[in-house]
Amino acid sequence: MANIDKIRDDLENFKINVAEDLERYRLHFLSKKSELQTLLSEIKNVPVEERKSFGQKVNELKKRAQAYFDEQMERLESAVQTQSSSVDVTRPATALELGSRHPISIMMDEVCRIFERIGFTTVSGPDIEDDWHIFTALNFAEEHPARDMQDTFFIDQKPDIALRTHTSTLQVRTMEKQKPPIRVICPGRVFRNESITSRAHCIFHQMEGLYIDENVSFADMKQTLMYFAKQMFGENTRIRLRPSYFPFTEPSAEMDVSCNICGGKGCALCKHTGWVEILGCGMVDPNVLENCGIDSKKYTGFAFGLGIERMTMLKYKTDDIRLYFENDVRFLQQFSSAKI
Ligand code: PHE
Repeated sequence: MANIDKIRDDLENFKINVAEDLERYRLHFLSKKSELQTLLSEIKNVPVEERKSFGQKVNELKKRAQAYFDEQMERLESAVQTQSSSVDVTRPATALELGSRHPISIMMDEVCRIFERIGFTTVSGPDIEDDWHIFTALNFAEEHPARDMQDTFFIDQKPDIALRTHTSTLQVRTMEKQKPPIRVICPGRVFRNESITSRAHCIFHQMEGLYIDENVSFADMKQTLMYFAKQMFGENTRIRLRPSYFPFTEPSAEMDVSCNICGGKGCALCKHTGWVEILGCGMVDPNVLENCGIDSKKYTGFAFGLGIERMTMLKYKTDDIRLYFENDVRFLQQFSSAKI
């Protein structure tokens, strides 16, 4: 009787975690040589008056031992099955959702293509620039108020280094490297310390254009820009040039295109004028040519810088520039079928 109690205690304390435990358990409680088996074969030797209750107890214990074994075996087997089903290599893969191109990238590509068709090549340069390329080479005098026209993000420790405020830096970089004739367009991100509204942002994109050769005139510039506006916004697009000022061009102008959001009737984007400004332009100032090592007696040229966001807003008829930076997929998905 004491042996039965001991075996029951052992059984209750036996922990089965892995397959090896199960085998140890089997040897210990269920095999022919186990103590429990021995007790079973002892039944016949027990005095008659105790035999019945002894036999009952031993058989009950044996059943319990077997039931626990079966239960644990099932548990371990099903655990193995779940493990292997998680690496079912025959399962079809989850479909990947295809992203779409950002409208700003679509627009930059489109502008590049329009100018490539008339012989311009695309170049790029760094977002972080030095004073020479942002201002000095472009004819901004040291204390010139025009430096305030563009609120600049300077790098704290190095007042000489800043985030470029315009892509005109690439005019300088290109002229320093290449000899005329030069025909380049330069897409890029620019930064200005401005408050963010539906019309303005502290980050935006520009596309610089530069054409330097002998006998390049203001009329060449006007025709080039008119070609561009019609290619981009359609044959019926009207343009107008308004006199303006930039230190690096003389004469300078700003170009407007007819507003195609309101069809010229007047809306928030065109400030109710029917016209939207899309670029600044002008004949490259001789000082700039000389600063970049180009003979200003022999060569002339024009430059322009157009605002990509402004054009994208016009093209896709959106009236808030912030949409382009929030990256809300509901907005971006609408461009998945746009012409690339
Ligand atoms: N860099 C000027 C701006 O950001 C635009 C411009 C470029 C004007 C080239 C004239 C010529 O406002």
